Amino acid sequence: MPLRSRIAGTGMSVGNRVVTNAEMTQWMDTSEEWIEQRTGIKERRWIDETQRPSTLAAEATNQALEQAGLEVGDIDCILLATLSGEHDFPGTSFFLHELIDAGDIPCVDLRAQCSGFLYALQMGDALIQTGSHKRVLVVGAEVHSTGLDISTEGRDVTVIFGDGAGATLLEAVEAEADGPGVLQIRCHAQGKHARRLWTEGPSSARHPHRIDEQALAEKKHFPHMEGRFVFKHAVTRMPEVLLETLGGASLELDDVDLFLFHQANLRINEAVAQRLEIPKEKVRNNIERLGNCSAGALPILLAEASRDGSLQPGQLVSLTAFGSGFTWASAVVRWG
Ligand code: COA
Repeated sequence: MPLRSRIAGTGMSVGNRVVTNAEMTQWMDTSEEWIEQRTGIKERRWIDETQRPSTLAAEATNQALEQAGLEVGDIDCILLATLSGEHDFPGTSFFLHELIDAGDIPCVDLRAQCSGFLYALQMGDALIQTGSHKRVLVVGAEVHSTGLDISTEGRDVTVIFGDGAGATLLEAVEAEADGPGVLQIRCHAQGKHARRLWTEGPSSARHPHRIDEQALAEKKHFPHMEGRFVFKHAVTRMPEVLLETLGGASLELDDVDLFLFHQANLRINEAVAQRLEIPKEKVRNNIERLGNCSAGALPILLAEASRDGSLQPGQLVSLTAFGSGFTWASAVVRWG
C-alpha cells in the first residue's frame, strides 16, 4: 500500500515579550486604531535576550515529540523553514539540531518565506512517500523583531511582524481511503516579484562587502514591502491555490472542517474567506495576539487547534499561505 504522512505531533513557541500597539506608538508615527483596523493585530510577541530562533524551534519540537509520544532518536530528518536565519550560515536547523541533540541525522533550512512551512511540508511528505524516511520533523521558525525598522519609515512592515516557531512531526502511515495524513499539497512561486517584498542586504551580490555604511544608511538591512501590491496578489492567489489543492484531492470546500490561512493581515484572510463563501466559524486566526510569524504562522495555528480540541480525528484541515518570493501554497490534511 502507498505511504502517506500523518501529523503525529505539533508544538509551538513564541517570544516572551508582549509588544502592544500602544508600545509601537512610542517609536513611530502610528496609532493603536490604525494598526488594529488595517491589520487586525492588537499585540505581537517578540523575543527577549534569553531566546533565539533555534530555542523557539527546540521548544516547539519538544512539544511535538511529547504529543506524538516519541523521542528525538525517532526522527530521521529535520526540515526547517525560515526567512530569518539565526546566522548567515549554517542554517537555523543546525542550531536546533544541536539543542535537541539529534545525533547525526540530516537537517536543512528551506527559504520560501511565509509559504515556507508548506514548501517544507511538501518535501517532508515526499521523503516519507518514497519510503526512505519514517519520521520527518518539519519546523517553521522566525525571529523578525531583531531586523525591523521601528522608526516611522518602517511602520508598514514593522507593525505586522511577530516572533514564533511551530513544529510538526510527520510519520509514515499506510494511505487508507479515509485514513489520516497529508492528502495534497500544491506550491507556486513567481520570482519576478521578488523585490516587491524583500530584505536586500547583507547581500553577497554587493561589492566589495555585503554590507557597508552606505547600505546601512539606506536601510537595506530592513524589510521593504509594496503593501498594496502584495495584498492584491495574496487575496487572488490564496483562493486559487486552495481550490486547486482541494480539487487535486477530489474534495469540495464544504468537506473542509477548518481553514487555516497565513497570518499577515486579518483583512486578507477575511477577503479570502468572503471570496470562497467560507463561514467565519470555520476559520481560525491568531494574528490579533501573535502578529505575522511568517513560516511559523501555520504550524503555530495547527498546534493551537490540535491542543484546544478545535481539530478532531477524522476532520479535514486546509492550510494556505502567501508570501515573499512571491510564493503561495496550500495543503489539505486529514487529522488523526
Ligand atoms: N501606521 C499609520 N499609518 C501607516 C502605517 C502604520 N503602521 N503603515 C502605513 N501607513 C500609512 C502609509 O504611509 C499611507 O499613508 P499615505 O496615504 O499618507 O501615503 C497609508 O497608511 C496607506 O498605506 P498603505 O500601504 O496603502 O496601507 P494599507 O492599507 O495597504 O496597509 C499593510 C498596509 C502593510 C497593512 C497592507 O498593505 C498589507 O497587509 N499588505 C500585505 C501584507 C502581506 O500579505 N505580506 C505577505 C506576507 S509577509
